[in-house]
Amino acid sequence: MKTVLQIWIFLLLSTINLSSYGEQALPIIDSQLTTLIKSHNLTGIPTSNKNIPNINSPKAQLGMKLFYSKTLSGDNTTACASCHHPMLGGGDNLSLSVGVDSKNPDIMGIHRELKGSDQARVPRNAPTTFNVAFWKRVLFHDMRIEKVSELGITTPDVPYPTIDPLAGDTLVQAQARFPITSSDEMRGKYMNASFNQTMRRALAKRLEKNWLEEFRKGFDYADGSAEDLITEQNFSEAIAEYERSQVFINTPWKNYIEGNKDALSTSAKKGALLFYTSQKKGGAGCAQCHSGDFFTDEMAYNTAMPQIGAGKDNGVTGSNDYGCNLVTKKEDDKFRFRTPSLINVEVTGPWGHAGAYTSLEAVTRHMLSPIKSAKAYDPSQLQQKNIALKDLKQNTQEAIDTGIHITPKPVINESDVTHLVNFMKALTDPCVKDRACLSKWIPNENDNDPDGRTLHALNGKTGERL
Ligand code: HEC
Ligand code: HEC
Repeated sequence: MKTVLQIWIFLLLSTINLSSYGEQALPIIDSQLTTLIKSHNLTGIPTSNKNIPNINSPKAQLGMKLFYSKTLSGDNTTACASCHHPMLGGGDNLSLSVGVDSKNPDIMGIHRELKGSDQARVPRNAPTTFNVAFWKRVLFHDMRIEKVSELGITTPDVPYPTIDPLAGDTLVQAQARFPITSSDEMRGKYMNASFNQTMRRALAKRLEKNWLEEFRKGFDYADGSAEDLITEQNFSEAIAEYERSQVFINTPWKNYIEGNKDALSTSAKKGALLFYTSQKKGGAGCAQCHSGDFFTDEMAYNTAMPQIGAGKDNGVTGSNDYGCNLVTKKEDDKFRFRTPSLINVEVTGPWGHAGAYTSLEAVTRHMLSPIKSAKAYDPSQLQQKNIALKDLKQNTQEAIDTGIHITPKPVINESDVTHLVNFMKALTDPCVKDRACLSKWIPNENDNDPDGRTLHALNGKTGERL
C-alpha cells in the first residue's frame, strides 16, 4: 500500500514538474497552440478559388520561357526573372530593384548595379512571386491591382476603382501586363508609346519573329497564326500561369498543424504563441494583420517603415512614398502599404516596401515597436550600393507624424524577437532553398531558346549560375 502511494505521489510530482519547467513544459505549449490554431481556424493551407496550374503544363512552360525572356524589355536586357528569380526567394535579394540599364544584365543579387554610379531608380522592393496565386484581392505594395468585385479587376490603366476590361481572368495576369510598361523596370527609354496598350502590342509584334512554335505548343493550337496566338493577352496569361504554379507551402508550421508536434523547435513554438496571442493577453498580436493560412488580411497599414531610395515624388522632399494614397487619393491612405504574406519570408529579404531592413530580427523589432525602431534606423545595414538616403529621416518622420496603425509593445525582450524569428523561419518550404527542387521553375541551358535571349542569371560574387 505504502509503495503504491509513493508511486502515486511521485507521478503527481513529476506531472507538476512537467508542466512548469523548460523542455519538459512542451505539452502545455502544444495544447495552448492547439487552442490558438483552432480559434484562428488554421489548416496550414492557404485557400484559393482558382485552380493552381501545374508547372509541366504547356501553358506554364511557355510562361516560363516568357518570364525569363529579355526580349520583353525595351532594350532586350531585362526579364521578369531579372527581379524575380526562384533562387533568390522569388525576388532579387536587393533592397530596391535594378531593371534596364544594368551594368551586367545577367548578374543578380547585391552585385546587380546600374551603369555608372546611378542611384537605384525602382522605388520599391520586389515582392516574391512564390505563392502569388493565393492573393484573393490585391497585388502590389500599394494594392493598385485590386479585384473590386466579382465582375472584375481595377488596374492603373483605368481610373480607380473602375474595372479594366483588359485585366484578364486573374490578379496575376492583370499584374503581368504592367512591368513591361514601367520605364525603370523593363521598358527603358527605348520604346516610345504614350499608351500602355501600344507598348504591349509592340512587344507582341516583336515576339512574332521567333516565338510562333512556342505559342502553338503553349496554347495547344498547332496551326494557329501569329496574329491569333501572339497577343498581349496571351503572353500575360501564359506568364501568369507560370507564376501561379509557384506554390511553396510545405512548411514545418503546416506539418505541425497537421499533427507533427516535433516539426517545430521549442523556440519556434514560443514564437507562434507570441504571434497568435493578442497584445492584450500578453502576446505580440502579429496575427491581427498577418492572419489566416496566408499570413495576411490583404489590408494596408501605416507601419512607418524607413523610407529609403528614390520614392514616388511625394511629400515636401519629393522622394517620399505615400503608398495606397497614390491609388485611392484618400488622405487616410497615406503611408499605408499592404500586409505582406510571411510564408517563406526567411528567403525574401530585404524586408519592407523599400527593403530598408536586411535582417529578420531588425524588421521584427520594427513590427514590435515601429516608431522607436524607425527613429533608430541604421542605413549601414544596407548591402546594396547607390541607394538615395538624403531624405531618409524627413520622409520617415512624415510617416510617423501621419499616425501609425500598430500599438507598440511597451517592453521588448530580445528573447521574444528570437522566438518570433524562429517561428517565421518555420514558415519556409525546404524546396525554396534547394536548387534541385526549384529546377522545374528555372529554364535549362539546353532548352530551346526561341531568340537566344533567355536569362541564365549569374551570382555576381561567384560568377556561378543561379
Ligand atoms: C526591375 C525589376 C522588376 C522586373 C523586371 C519585374 N518586376 Fe515584378 N516587381 C518589381 C517590384 C519592385 C515590384 C513591387 C512594385 C510595387 O508594389 O509598387 C514588383 C511586383 C510584382 C508582383 C506583385 C507581387 C505581389 O505580391 O503583389 C508580381 C506578381 C510581379 N512583380 C511579377 C512580375 C512579372 C510577371 C514581370 C515581367 C513581366 C516582372 N514582375 C518584372 C520588380 C520587378
Ligand atoms: C497593424 C497590422 C500589422 C501588425 C499588427 C503586424 N504587421 Fe507585420 N507588416 C504589416 C504591414 C502593413 C507590413 C508592410 C509594411 C511596409 O512594407 O511598409 C508588414 C511587414 C512585415 C514584415 C516584412 C515582410 C516583408 O516581406 O517585407 C515582417 C517580417 C512582419 N511584418 C512581421 C510581423 C510580426 C512578427 C508582427 C508581430 C510582432 C507583425 N508583423 C505585426 C502589418 C502588420
